Amino acid sequence: MAEEPIERAKNRGYKLLADAEAALEAGQIDEAGWHQRGMAVITRAYLAGDNPRSQSGHSGDEAYWRQARSLVAEAMDRDGAFLDVGCASGHLMECVQQWAGEQGRRVEPYGLDIAPELAALARSRLPQWAERIWVGNAIDWVPPQRFDFVRTGLEYVPRRRQPDLVRRLLQEVVAPGGRLIIGSGSEEKDQTRIGPSLEEEVFSWGFGIGGSLRRPHYHDARLEYRVFWIEA
Ligand SMILES: C[S@@+](CC[C@H](N)C(=O)[O-])C[C@H]1O[C@@H](n2cnc3c(N)ncnc32)[C@H](O)[C@@H]1O
Repeated sequence: MAEEPIERAKNRGYKLLADAEAALEAGQIDEAGWHQRGMAVITRAYLAGDNPRSQSGHSGDEAYWRQARSLVAEAMDRDGAFLDVGCASGHLMECVQQWAGEQGRRVEPYGLDIAPELAALARSRLPQWAERIWVGNAIDWVPPQRFDFVRTGLEYVPRRRQPDLVRRLLQEVVAPGGRLIIGSGSEEKDQTRIGPSLEEEVFSWGFGIGGSLRRPHYHDARLEYRVFWIEA
C-alpha cells in the first residue's frame, strides 16, 4: 500500500488550511472568511461523526485517541482549571479530567469553540458543564475567568496571527503562574524534518518554552506526538 503523504498524515485538514492561507494572502478573503471556510467544513464533518472522538476530529479508536491526546494531561503538573480552546465535542475535556485523575490530580475542565453547533454538541453531551462551554474565536475572546492550564492549537488562526494568539492567551486567558499548552498534534521527527519544529518557531517569536513532552505516533513511524508549554 502506498504511504500516506506526510502532510496529510500530520493533519487531514492540511489542504483546506493551505487553500485558505493562499486565498487570505492573495486578498481574496479576509480573516473572517478564513475562519468561515474552516468552520463550514469542520462543523459538517464533526457533526456527522458517530462517536465523541470523531466528533472532535479524530479517526481512531479509544487506544489511538489516548495515545494521541493524553500528553495534554501529562503537561499539567498540579490541580487546576483547564480550558480546552477548540473543544469540539468536549471529549478532550472529559478525558483530560479522567487521565489527570489517574495521576492523582484534580482538573476542572472548561471549553471554548468558534463553531456554535459544536459548542451546542459539547453542552448536550456534557450537561453538567453546559455553563462552562462557550462560543468564541480564541483570537479575541474575552474570558469570564482565568485558567491554570489552557490548551490550544496554533492552526486555529491564520499563520500571520499565530504569535498574536499565543500573546493574547498568555496575557488574557492563562492565570498568573499557569501554563499555555500547545499541541498535541503530530509532527515529523527531528531526524527527518526539514525546517524548524513548531516549538522552535514559537521560541523564535520571543516566547520562552517551559517544557515539552513527546511520544511515538500510534502507527506512523515518521511522526511523533508533541506538546510544549509556556509559563505565564
Ligand atoms: C481538532 S478539533 C480539537 C478537539 C479537541 N480539543 C482536541 O484537541 O482533541 C479543533 C476545534 O477547534 C475549533 N476552532 C478552530 N478555530 C478556532 C478558533 N479560532 N477559536 C476557537 N475554536 C476554534 C474547531 O471548531 C474545532 O472544533
